[in-house]
Amino acid sequence: MAVARRDLIANAVLAGAVLPLAGLPLRAAAQDRAERPPARQVTRLAEWRFHLGHAADVEADFGWGRNQRTYAKAGAATADAAQANFDDKGWRQVRVPHDWAVELPFAPPADRAPEETADAAAAHGFKAIGRAHPANSIGWYRAALPIEKTDRDRVIWLAFDGVFRDATVFVNGYVVGTNESGYAPFTVSIGDFLDYDGGPNVVTVRVDATLGEGWFYEGAGIYRHVELVRANAVHVPQWGSYVRCTTQSAGAEVAATLELRNDGAEPATLTLRQRIEGADGRLAVRLDDQTLTVPARDSLSAEATVLLPAPRLWSPADPAMYRLVSEVLVGEAMVDRYVTPFGVRTVKFDARRGFLLNGAVTKLLGVCNHQDHAGVGTGIPDALHRWRIARMQEMGCNAWRSAHNPPAAAFLDAADEMGMMTVVETRRNSSDPVAMDELDRILRRDRNHPSIIAWSLGNEEPHQGNARGARITNVQQDLVRELDPTRPTTFAMDNSWDKGVGEVVDVVGFNYRTDRMDAFHAAHPNVPVYGSETGSTVATRGAYVNDATAQVVRAYDTEHPWWASTAEDWWRIAATRPWIAGGFIWTGFDYRGEPTPYPHFPSISSYFGVTDTCGFPKDNFYYYRAWWRPAEPLVHLLPHWNWPGREGEEIEVWVHGNTPEVELLLNGDSIGRKPMPVDGHLVWQVPYEPGRLEARGMDGKLRTARAIVQTADVPHRIELTADRRRLAASGDDVAILRAEVLDRRGNRVPTGDNLIRFKVDGRAAIIGVGNGNPTSLEADAASERRAFNGLCQAILRAGSRSGTVVVRAEAEGLQAGEVTLAVGPG
Ligand code: GAL
Repeated sequence: MAVARRDLIANAVLAGAVLPLAGLPLRAAAQDRAERPPARQVTRLAEWRFHLGHAADVEADFGWGRNQRTYAKAGAATADAAQANFDDKGWRQVRVPHDWAVELPFAPPADRAPEETADAAAAHGFKAIGRAHPANSIGWYRAALPIEKTDRDRVIWLAFDGVFRDATVFVNGYVVGTNESGYAPFTVSIGDFLDYDGGPNVVTVRVDATLGEGWFYEGAGIYRHVELVRANAVHVPQWGSYVRCTTQSAGAEVAATLELRNDGAEPATLTLRQRIEGADGRLAVRLDDQTLTVPARDSLSAEATVLLPAPRLWSPADPAMYRLVSEVLVGEAMVDRYVTPFGVRTVKFDARRGFLLNGAVTKLLGVCNHQDHAGVGTGIPDALHRWRIARMQEMGCNAWRSAHNPPAAAFLDAADEMGMMTVVETRRNSSDPVAMDELDRILRRDRNHPSIIAWSLGNEEPHQGNARGARITNVQQDLVRELDPTRPTTFAMDNSWDKGVGEVVDVVGFNYRTDRMDAFHAAHPNVPVYGSETGSTVATRGAYVNDATAQVVRAYDTEHPWWASTAEDWWRIAATRPWIAGGFIWTGFDYRGEPTPYPHFPSISSYFGVTDTCGFPKDNFYYYRAWWRPAEPLVHLLPHWNWPGREGEEIEVWVHGNTPEVELLLNGDSIGRKPMPVDGHLVWQVPYEPGRLEARGMDGKLRTARAIVQTADVPHRIELTADRRRLAASGDDVAILRAEVLDRRGNRVPTGDNLIRFKVDGRAAIIGVGNGNPTSLEADAASERRAFNGLCQAILRAGSRSGTVVVRAEAEGLQAGEVTLAVGPG
């Protein structure tokens, strides 16, 4: 048996499972279990063995396609990797979520690569993957399945939240399912293929990331969670519940639809016992018990409604969650228990008033984002999803468009809990059966999330302005109306807003061209609009001089592609027009791939973010922070104040902020006081002299905010900080570490580029590093990184044992930084 016993243990029940037998002596438990099957068990499969294969070399590919054997004989997919007894000891142990593309080296396209290959290489951030790198484009995963004797009569499936892409799933040598989309969740029924008499039972997944789906970095591999679900014959199928709420003066009417499936050979009479709890587990209301008979090998939908008195309404300020707990009883035995988190809120786009949440006008202060992060690519741990949402909230952001694909379920859970409104987008705007099925799965998986305010059916598709696009989008929209009539549809368009799909969807999205919205609104005053992609200043964090040779873009709010605008240009329009529901800037984070404005090697990421790929703020972050959180006084100064050799020369100094006036001082002497224009910024030309530049945010005589930049000396020490000091010993929890290069007096060295080595002593490991430099070709999966403009980041993952973790950040000639974290019960 190839899979180590410790893998089995590590993969044992982790998530969501109800273990009514926990704590019983083994024999008693076994006896009891024989009489009373446990309710649904959900086991997260986190530990896998991984092999980077070769698409063209059948030997290296473990017999894939050899003699057509994969599909020739049942259970004999290949003689090797797909079989349970294959020896995979030589394969690497990885933890899912896992992105193997991020581990690959960077590679410029070959000199004579066809344009199409070169474009694809740039799009995916020049990682050595895709058609030009077949050996890096196929990956194989294997994991042991913890199947017991008592599972024999159960219904068993694997739920993959996302595999990039073109996955073939084998169980014990059988091909049990395939899924092409790199973004749509899918399930595979596996009960028939298992060995219930001691195993081994192994799932193998072949992943083919040769082709991409987008024009941005997409990663490769099992980059979202996988769950093994064991349910009884009578059960709630995957995504089998739908909760709708209608608010009334007396409370909220909650309508719950629960699908019940009976895979048994006899009709099953059951009792459905349901209740609504608050997020703290406190009972809010019980639903009436229902007695139902589900015919053999059939399903039915149980409908129920209940009044939830005085509910707490979900909003960014108070993301109140509830959960519907559905228990399915046959006789006295609980055969299934299904928990549906939901929230009570209303959403509405209004052509005159913009967006309304719970009846109150709420401007969408949004960001668009792809799904990758420094160091880990698309394999984002749950805690990092939360960290990324928190960074955007810090800026004042309340909405997130998941471009251009549905996000991970873990992201949406975090968005619900943290109060981040989201627009979920399907990857393919098409009415072919596969695209429709993908949309179907997304809607069923996601429709209970209160954070979702709209379904986006496409982005700048070539047919957006014509009748064919309208036809296709209509078919998709019909499915939305059927599966979730509670939310509007939208489409992100960059032209023809009043034609084609613009005449189909409920809410029209403007990608850029904010200045054309007035004319549209005048002609179509009844169509709700918002900026589906807006702004889009390009910038290198911490850089203030354009340098085309070095592919550096200054971080003033001045640089943008021709189709986009500065932050200030779009926001001044959107802020002053109540009928614009708000907008989603492109983008919140720099993302790998689509290197813009320098689409050539060595630029490997976009420059669009208000933060870099690590989430370190660029200066525009503070423009939004000032005007998206106007009640909290802020001033922010740029550039840094280290300009040796430019003494006496005028330096362009900007202040972002929101105090009524700002006074600027250089080395204690006032350079002047100016009123801050609403939704604007201030500029001074300041002859350079080293020292201290200070901006005082003034409200009359009161100084309500202050920013200082100080000429820094040479690097002296590293300051290491962690976003949290306590991590759960779950094997999955991460802390985000920030290393900053400081001079002797504690000033950040704004050009600090020391190589920083992270040393971990204890029960944790660095899983990725980054520094936000769009042209850095250093390894992501490493434990060292050069600082870029004074900063770098490391992602630390805790193991599953409690204890203390000491992390040191060392660099030659500098005092090391250190941080101590506790790993313990979650
Ligand atoms: C838009 C597109 C985005 C991104 C952006 C770059 O047209 O929807 O995905 O490519 O341009 O400016």
